[in-house]
Formats: sequence, structure tokens, C-alpha cells
Amino acid sequence: MRIDVVTIFPELFAPFVTTSLIGRARDAGLLEIEVHDLRNSTVDRHRVVDDEPYGGGGGMVMIAPPWIRAAREHGAGARRILMSPQGTPLTDAKVRELAREDALLLLCGRYEGVDERVRRLVADEEISVGDYVLSGGELPAMVLVEAISRYVPGVVGLPSSVEQDSFRRGLLDHPHYTRPAVVEGLEVPEVLRSGDHAAIEAWRRREAVRATLEKRPDLLARADLTRDERTELASLRACKVGQGTE
Ligand SMILES: C[S@@+](CC[C@H](N)C(=O)[O-])C[C@H]1O[C@@H](n2cnc3c(N)ncnc32)[C@H](O)[C@@H]1O
Repeated sequence: MRIDVVTIFPELFAPFVTTSLIGRARDAGLLEIEVHDLRNSTVDRHRVVDDEPYGGGGGMVMIAPPWIRAAREHGAGARRILMSPQGTPLTDAKVRELAREDALLLLCGRYEGVDERVRRLVADEEISVGDYVLSGGELPAMVLVEAISRYVPGVVGLPSSVEQDSFRRGLLDHPHYTRPAVVEGLEVPEVLRSGDHAAIEAWRRREAVRATLEKRPDLLARADLTRDERTELASLRACKVGQGTE
């Protein structure tokens, strides 16, 4: 997969694209990521990218022409995404959908945002990383790239760990433990040291359902549960009702 990013702060991406899973995926040719300086798509001597807003007030607005040039230059054939707090909230389903694309172009705004005509002329869609406002689209673009990369075959060494990740089927992941066996009096559940794989599987299934029920019960309405998971859920709910907590 190829991802092009347009920003006025390309230097923010340097460690991100060369480190850990993303760095290795690029080295292995699984991911191609190119970061472009929006100022290289300006045509004036001062490489201006912003101007005062029509109507007055507020801060500076990013002017449209450099974005339009950059999108046409780097986004041919790509799905073009404007990072924006007004966009579709990013979810696991959206990430998986985008991971199936061959090429993406991510546009990172700054200041008060970009001239509305950028959205209308060159963006296929807007994506938000949450209902809060950041100062720029660079961190949202990195969030998107990292989430997508986990679904690009070969990027995460163990595909099963992506399968079990939170949200994959509408459930949260089960708790994880590693050495030491006891931390400040808290022991690793005995079953995880039993070597009984069927029992471990059953424990993990139950704990994933329990974590979702306790932390994100809203997910359960849309979760794609197996028969065993539905049974666990019914029994955990019955327990809660029995304890008077539901
Ligand atoms: C300070 S914000 C502009 C916010 C804009 N005035 C508004 O309220 O909708 C500058 C840039 O940061 C990025 N940005 C900020 N928050 C974001 C979010 N939650 N998701 C995605 N991008 C975001 C966008 O690219 C935006 O153009």
C-alpha cells in the first residue's frame, strides 16, 4: 500500500516513518509512505500557505491553491482524505475499509483549518480521530497510518494478535499477563499457567466478554459473537443481576 501525506511540518513524520513496525514495514516494501511539504506546492517567492479569513475575525486560514496542486501531483488514483475534526469519526471498520485501498493521500490542516474549496474540490472524504480539536492534522494522520498498517498483510508478525485485538469483532481484548507471576501481591490467574489450552481459550473468551460488558457495554449490541461468547455473556449478565449490579 502507498500512503502520501501533505503537511507544512514534514519533519514531524521523520521518526514515525522510520521506527518500529512502520519502519520495518517500509524497509520490507510492505508500505510506501511519502511525506510532502505543502510549501513545495506554492508558486510565490515566500511560499505562502495561509491568509486572513473572508468575513474577518478568527485566525489564519490555509489557502486552497497549494492544496489543489499537491493533491493533483501526489494523489492521482489515491483515495484523498482531509483530516478534520468535522469528519467521520475513525472506527475499526473504517480502518479496515481504508486498508483495502491501494493508495491514500492524507491532507493535514493547520491554523483555523483549510479553505472550504479544498474539501469540495480535492477531498473524497474527511476523517476525524475524535470529538476534540488538535492544532494540526499530523497526529491524526499518524493515527490513521498506524491503525491501517496493522491490517496490511505482513506488517504485524502474528496475524492472530490483530484478530484478537479490541474492536475486531466488536469485543474488547482479554487481559494480558507476563512475568513475574506475582506483582505486589497480584497473581497471574492460575489457568494461564496450567498448560491446558482449551481452558486458557475459554478463560480468554470469558474475560474478553467480561471486559466489554464492564468497560464498553455499548459495543455488545453490534458485536459479532460466537455461540460460546453469547453463552458467556448471558452467564455474566445473570451474575450481575444476581449481585444486584444491573
Ligand atoms: C485547529 S484545527 C481547525 C479546527 C476548525 N477550526 C474546526 O473547529 O473545525 C487545524 C487542523 O487540525 C486538524 N485536526 C484537528 N483536530 C482534528 C481531529 N479531531 N481529527 C482530525 N483532524 C483534526 C485538521 O486538519 C484541521 O484542519
